[in-house]
Amino acid sequence: MTPPDYEYLRKLLRDHSGLDLSADKQYLIESRLLPLARKADLPGISELVQKMKGGSASITTQVVEAMTTNETLFFRDKVPFDHFRVSIMPEILQARASRKSIRIWCAAGSTGQEPYSLAMCLKEMSAALAGWRVEVLATDLSQEVLEKSRAGIYSQFEVQRGLPIQMLVKYFKQSGELWQVNADIRAMVQHRQLNLLHDFSQLGVFDVIFCRNVLIYFDQDTKINIFNRLAKVTEPDGFLALGAAETVVGLTDVFRPYPERRGLYRPSGARAAPAWMPAIGVPRAALGAL
Ligand SMILES: C[S@@+](CC[C@H](N)C(=O)[O-])C[C@H]1O[C@@H](n2cnc3c(N)ncnc32)[C@H](O)[C@@H]1O
Repeated sequence: MTPPDYEYLRKLLRDHSGLDLSADKQYLIESRLLPLARKADLPGISELVQKMKGGSASITTQVVEAMTTNETLFFRDKVPFDHFRVSIMPEILQARASRKSIRIWCAAGSTGQEPYSLAMCLKEMSAALAGWRVEVLATDLSQEVLEKSRAGIYSQFEVQRGLPIQMLVKYFKQSGELWQVNADIRAMVQHRQLNLLHDFSQLGVFDVIFCRNVLIYFDQDTKINIFNRLAKVTEPDGFLALGAAETVVGLTDVFRPYPERRGLYRPSGARAAPAWMPAIGVPRAALGAL
């Protein structure tokens, strides 16, 4: 791969997925894209770049998807799911008692372990939620991971990562070497392809947003932009859960940390500076007055 190829790919990835690669990540590109080049019968990455420059949308999508990191596991980090059971849901059950509806968004759900972990927590609260309308929306940039998430089929290795054995027995069916999430849990999760760089206001407003271990790959301006738009789709008394290495602190004050609940935030009511409100790539001229 030549230095101009690398620069082309860095810019393309930043524009299409937000991935912020430093100047020394050639090895990462090579390890992820050489298999793709071979699959496309191309000798190397330079030829892949030529295809993209020639306007091949399909290759571009495959390159962007191949460069995403989809690492996930059931009940990842445990603590956010404890917060969900102990803080978030009790507060929401009380606050929405008359409306009896809850909307939860898993904003980078990858292969489904995170949204299904939430769905299993909700199932465990069935008695308290009787008569409630509960929506869990799982979105991701990558169609490939969404397909796996929809199917809800996992290997023995995957179900051994984070999933308590009682939950495996209760909520999964074994088929040979594989395990599938039971149909009633799968039916609780809606799936949709969504790029966080693009406008997501059409999804409506949520009580709880899990946006974990994705912003870590983005540069600071992109994080700020996304936080500010997430605040607009979070109920004023709603919640945002971030990954263990992510925070809003020092970036924006549209969310404030929830006391003594690491990784959990609530909208502060502060308005974001208008310059950061548009989704990335939307020309300011096209937005009219903000
Ligand atoms: C490391 S996984 C995190 C999965 C899960 N949230 C967790 O914490 O275990 C990151 C996910 O973010 C998705 N992703 C990357 N860039 C994205 C973007 N611009 N918009 C939406 N999803 C994106 C990737 O496809 C990947 O599935």
